[in-house]
Amino acid sequence: MSFKQEAKKSFPEWPIYGDEEIKALTNVIKSGKWWCGSPGFHQGENVWKFQEEFAKFQSAKHCIAVFNGTVAIEVPLLALGVGLGDEVIVSDYTFVASASAVVATNAVPIFCDIDPDTLVMDVNKIEGLISERTKAIIPVHLGGNPVEMDRLMEIAEKNNLKVVEDCAHAHGSKYKGRYVGNWGHSGTFSFQASKVLTAGEGGAIITNDEKLADLIYSISDCGRKKNAHGYNHYMYGSNYRMTEYQASVLLEQMKKFPAQHKLRNENAKYFMEKLNAIDGIRVMKPTPGTEEIGYYVYPIVFDPKEFGGITQSKFYKKLNRNGIPTDNCYPPLHGLDCFKKIELRKGIDYSKANWGGEKSDDRNFPIVTDIYSRSIEFPHEMLLASQEKLDSIVDFIKSLK
Ligand SMILES: Cc1ncc(COP(=O)(O)O)c(C=O)c1O
Repeated sequence: MSFKQEAKKSFPEWPIYGDEEIKALTNVIKSGKWWCGSPGFHQGENVWKFQEEFAKFQSAKHCIAVFNGTVAIEVPLLALGVGLGDEVIVSDYTFVASASAVVATNAVPIFCDIDPDTLVMDVNKIEGLISERTKAIIPVHLGGNPVEMDRLMEIAEKNNLKVVEDCAHAHGSKYKGRYVGNWGHSGTFSFQASKVLTAGEGGAIITNDEKLADLIYSISDCGRKKNAHGYNHYMYGSNYRMTEYQASVLLEQMKKFPAQHKLRNENAKYFMEKLNAIDGIRVMKPTPGTEEIGYYVYPIVFDPKEFGGITQSKFYKKLNRNGIPTDNCYPPLHGLDCFKKIELRKGIDYSKANWGGEKSDDRNFPIVTDIYSRSIEFPHEMLLASQEKLDSIVDFIKSLK
């Protein structure tokens, strides 16, 4: 077992489940109704209930559940008309899915550098990336920290751009009185194994626009109209449906979420104050206007000079060896092999992208490159530990000086 796996064992492990999830899952199996389709014609009691509950939970009018958080981004992009030759502006500091979903629509991702304090997309850099081909923006609320959505929406409206918020890290994050996912045309979530709400895999799309919701439904369910007979395929669509197994587990996980979310927020505040008091350590700064953070991961940035010139990988490995679960954050997208090589999809012209070959040089993305080289992240379940445990991390980091 690696140090990283060992380290995870000394803190709360994830996922947290009980007899409720086992019973819910067993009930689905025993019912023989394992899939979801159009209401009234097909099965899907748990999925339809989950969609209703999750929409309420994020204060949105509509929710469409899908099988993972990657297709959750792809489907609203398609529904909003993003396709061949279009450009979509995406944060450079995120999991690859935020951009691979764009590639899947035959559009081209354009990477935007980040704000060095909040670590999310720097909205002041968006306008410089807009071209006549730009069709949409994907703000990613990294670590649950909201992007400055009021400013971003002003830019989007001025330039007639669609906005799909990637909220895979931001269940329950709230910015200036509104839950994330409700600022843009659509918001997307992931319920993959490591997420704060999980069924192993899963995704959801929220929107407040009924027409868009119906279109998203149809694209996700083989081009069917909601409430129509199963062999009517009025448009092109594919099968992105969530299963009854996933929804039954998610409904139970949602009941556990409020207490966990509250504890994570309390512990994050406690931990943040202690970490920020160490010279050479700085935690991700909540974007001004943030009211709640989902805290999927908890990134901190260190100053190597204050720690004897330590590198990022030595830093997190030292923590792992001492029983503290940490990892590096996401390698910036512009430098990933797939984006350096520009051989993504046949017949698509990527030559105008701001990445690929020499354009992927780190010097073109200075902030994210610097931040990535000296940041590490803690998993959200660590914020469910006791404050004594969090103190022990603070003490250990101090001892590295
Ligand atoms: C920011 C972000 N967006 C999208 C996804 C994709 O979600 P999924 O793994 O459910 O496909 C992830 C997954 O980790 C993510 O971190």
